[in-house]
Amino acid sequence: MTPDLQEFGARRLAQHMERGAPGQTESGGRNPGFARIAQDGEVDTTHGAILYLEDVSVSFDGFKAINKLSLDIAAGELRCIIGPNGAGKTTMMDIITGKTRPDEGSVFFGSTIDLLRHREADIAQMGIGRKFQKPTVFEHLTVFENLELALKTPRGVASSMFFRLNSEQSDRLAEVLRTIHLSQDLMRQAGTLSHGQKQWLEIGMLLMQDPKLLLLDEPVAGMTDEETARTAELFLSLKGKHSLMVVEHDMNFIKSISDIVTVLCDGSVLAQGSLEQVQADERVIEVYLGR
Ligand SMILES: Nc1ncnc2c1ncn2[C@@H]1O[C@H](COP(=O)(O)OP(=O)(O)OP(=O)(O)O)[C@@H](O)[C@H]1O
Ligand SMILES: [Mg+2]
Repeated sequence: MTPDLQEFGARRLAQHMERGAPGQTESGGRNPGFARIAQDGEVDTTHGAILYLEDVSVSFDGFKAINKLSLDIAAGELRCIIGPNGAGKTTMMDIITGKTRPDEGSVFFGSTIDLLRHREADIAQMGIGRKFQKPTVFEHLTVFENLELALKTPRGVASSMFFRLNSEQSDRLAEVLRTIHLSQDLMRQAGTLSHGQKQWLEIGMLLMQDPKLLLLDEPVAGMTDEETARTAELFLSLKGKHSLMVVEHDMNFIKSISDIVTVLCDGSVLAQGSLEQVQADERVIEVYLGR
């Protein structure tokens, strides 16, 4: 690829980002409400919440995996979700990210973006990043290349051919490397990292997109105690800058990061409060903690 093509790609990307100015049309007018939902970078959290689920239900072959689930998450909050196997935690994330369509209910990102009207890829691009349990980094690429690639993918493979990091993106990459404690390992092949480091790298790949909301499904499963403690520090450092929803079974980990804990059971909220409050709740003890 020629350098001028690379420059062209970088310019195109910069223009694309500039155009993301909230609520503005190309002629300078204001977009109507329905059009604003497609604007990258604009989520209305003036009412405090970044995510609202109301009376959401979904059935699989007659089995209600999610049953009138209502829940909201404040902007900047780190919310922990616990609950027994099969409670619907992963299914809830599938619904938020557009992977599964609910049979009924509403799901809003901020107060204006109706997520049920968007496809999975659009939802990711609007700023909802999701981490599945198994790390999905590119093992044969370096740490640096994985992070660099994370910037490119949402804009499509074609645009990534005409792409070079601009200075703002390079700065972001360096900051993400520090955040995930991999600055010393940037030229290492991702396949040689420990399980925990791979998980951090994947979180770093999400952070490269600067997501507003991060959904993390069992992020410390399989980690050593030390890796788990580092992940707790990492999540606490992300809180405020991002909103996080963390599903975990590891109660020590939950204890080290939690403010509000939501207990899901049979597809709806069984209890919610501080970890101490939900741990003392008889119903929670019966269905989950007391097993
Ligand atoms: N695509 C699907 N088709 C059929 N049933 C499904 C589907 N997805 C989830 N389920 C069922 O919905 C229920 C909720 O599953 P889910 O994976 O959301 O639970 P979970 O709370 O994430 O559990 P775990 O703690 O084990 O990860 C389970 O009974 C599961 O078998
Ligand atoms: Mg699950």
